[in-house]
Amino acid sequence: MPAKRKTAPLDRPQEHATRDLLAWYDAHGRTLPWRSKGGARADPYHVWLSEIMLQQTTVAAVIPYFQAFLARWPDVGALAQAPLEQVLSAWAGLGYYARARNLHACALAVSALPGGTFPDTEEALRALPGIGPYTAAAIAAIAFGRRSAVVDGNIERVIARLFAIETPLPQAKPEIKAHVAELTPEDRPGDFAQAMMDLGATVCNPRSPACQACPWTGYCVARAKGMHTELPIKAPKRARPLKRGLAYVALSPEGRVLLRTRPPKGLLGGMDEVPNSGWEKDAAAAPFPAQWQKLPGLVRHAFTHFELELEVWTARIEGPAPAPCRWVALEEAGAHALPNLFRKVLDHALNQGNWGPLFAAARDRG
Ligand code: ADE
Repeated sequence: MPAKRKTAPLDRPQEHATRDLLAWYDAHGRTLPWRSKGGARADPYHVWLSEIMLQQTTVAAVIPYFQAFLARWPDVGALAQAPLEQVLSAWAGLGYYARARNLHACALAVSALPGGTFPDTEEALRALPGIGPYTAAAIAAIAFGRRSAVVDGNIERVIARLFAIETPLPQAKPEIKAHVAELTPEDRPGDFAQAMMDLGATVCNPRSPACQACPWTGYCVARAKGMHTELPIKAPKRARPLKRGLAYVALSPEGRVLLRTRPPKGLLGGMDEVPNSGWEKDAAAAPFPAQWQKLPGLVRHAFTHFELELEVWTARIEGPAPAPCRWVALEEAGAHALPNLFRKVLDHALNQGNWGPLFAAARDRG
């Protein structure tokens, strides 16, 4: 009997490509706080938390949030027990608050399972709140060693180039996924997925890929054809509609701002906001009477499906907060579940308004 091999025999070029990429990852893969290297499986809670945070946010932006969440809620049971409000405010700044609500809902669902731990198949993971096909595949591969085909934006670019796929995205997705499924090895599927992510992020970047540093240069059909920077081809995007609205920043002489809570469902559901007109219909009247003054400039914000432009109006008011608003000290506004959009509005109001030294001090402290 021949000695048992540790890895599969390399009898097809694709398997060479896979092994070359894994060797590159061992030498050049990024060290990230949710990863474990050297063959150990990563903790499913860490993998899940990082994958949810990384949806639509960069690695650099996620790292401090990931570390803060782990310090505060070291396991999924602790996160499930946290009040939603605390989770939302710890999430503030990462954007897309539906993800934070789903994160909490998912922690509750996992804690309610027998054993209180994450399921280990793609299918069972997909049944959990906030876990779509990509995230289920990523967790199954990275945390549980399943041979799932993981495809994110970076991986799409790498594969489109490797095989010189000229079909535009998103039509090319099934073809790309089939290639990834072929390439993904039985052993180390999670490392393989993360190696492709790192290759896409650090070498095979969109504009100026560093082909001389790439373990796949010799396999890359797009490079051989000199078309690597042209791929992947993307179908033209429909322009995002522009919506408009008015935001009202009311400040008190003690340096407090009026905030209110958004309805629990829908965009930015349950988060805090400064009073505003909404943006679905033509501007309504101000939320309560005051000496409102329009500030120069606009606050622009890009949501996934539309762009928003808000005019900012300000007033100084005194006395009790008009319902349903409440007074919040400016220094503390940062600790509230205030979405980036309204942080921008508040910054704009403090920078553009003529508030005097009290507010300048609060702004600099806040
Ligand atoms: N983006 C999404 N998941 C990632 C991971 N595990 N490593 C690096 N970048 C990622």
